[in-house]
Amino acid sequence: MAAFKPSFDQIGEEKLSELIDTFYGKVGAHPDLAPIFPDDLTETARKQKQFMTQFLGGPPLYTEEHGHPRLRARHLPFPITETRAKAWLLCMDEAMEEINLENNVRQEMFQRLVVTAQHMINNTEENS
Ligand code: HEM
Repeated sequence: MAAFKPSFDQIGEEKLSELIDTFYGKVGAHPDLAPIFPDDLTETARKQKQFMTQFLGGPPLYTEEHGHPRLRARHLPFPITETRAKAWLLCMDEAMEEINLENNVRQEMFQRLVVTAQHMINNTEENS
């Protein structure tokens, strides 16, 4: 039986970094997402690289610097609707396509992000 290989090892630091930079380029240009994000996404991307590294089974870089992720709580200041969750996932899907992320790891990672994005929804469309 093949040994379990965390997704982070399959993707690698460089490709993950490329994915996240490409992703935030799209987030910053998306009409539903841009208004709730800072204009300068450098720090957001830096934190997301740390988070994704550990999310995919790599070293716990995010927790080392920021403590427990508590992702849903950290997102509460921002109105996250179903529309925004879909937009977030669309940006991610397009970024994965653009950087040619390998299919097997792409599918697994995307499925996990669908679940996490769903969990971040904290607002209805009327209140956003
Ligand atoms: C931070 C929006 C889903 C991980 C943020 C911020 C916003 C945001 C507005 C704050 C940016 C800043 O001030 O720098 C959204 C929306 C989502 C979503 C609309 C749609 C569902 C996710 C998902 C993940 C994630 C699925 C992880 C898999 C993070 C992380 C941060 C962050 C790690 C940085 C937290 C920190 O400040 O330490 N997000 N997010 N987000 N998001 Fe999301």
